[in-house]
Amino acid sequence: MELNPAAFYKLNARCCVVVSTASPRGISNAAPFSFNMPVSFSPPIFAIASNPGHDTWRNIRETREFVVNFVGEELGEKMHILERDYPYEVSEIKEAGLTEVPSKKVKAPRIGEAYAWLECSLYDAKELGDHVLIAGEVLLAEVRDECYDRVVDVARAKPLLHISGEYFGVPLARKFRRA
Ligand SMILES: Cc1cc2nc3c(=O)[nH]c(=O)nc-3n(C[C@H](O)[C@H](O)[C@H](O)COP(=O)(O)O)c2cc1C
Repeated sequence: MELNPAAFYKLNARCCVVVSTASPRGISNAAPFSFNMPVSFSPPIFAIASNPGHDTWRNIRETREFVVNFVGEELGEKMHILERDYPYEVSEIKEAGLTEVPSKKVKAPRIGEAYAWLECSLYDAKELGDHVLIAGEVLLAEVRDECYDRVVDVARAKPLLHISGEYFGVPLARKFRRA
């Protein structure tokens, strides 16, 4: 079936991350992002695409820092709380009943319930279409010990994937050996 080109994003299940930031006054903010990807090994760069009106982008512009929180399926329902349009400087982390944990390299907090974290400083940003591509240099990457066995342990971490709206997924681990 041929789709409206604007429905292109419904054709893959993307890793759903939560990006946490802090305002210059130190009030935390968090929002889910499924438009995200690794961009560079050296320096290590990770990017998200944000609607330019989001508080996340405002905080990153003003503080040049953010944290990418990798979340598992058990936080799936929380995404609908985190995505609500709360007034600026209302902490979605608190509204969602999640735990704010201090980061090691940036002022933006981590979300304690995540299974892995990337602490990032703003590397570059560019308007692309109706989003801003925000690239962050990864200053620190950390994962829960029990969710890592040479690579992320998919069976344990159950990384949350997002397709569209209320449609989510969880991946199955498979190892395809090279011939
Ligand atoms: C699972 C999920 C994924 C989302 N992915 C994105 C995304 O990649 N980019 C984006 O701009 N908004 C995305 N959104 C919408 C934002 O999370 C939402 O508008 C949020 O309120 C923005 O918060 P902020 O203004 O505090 O930054 C997503 C929402 C959900 C539920």
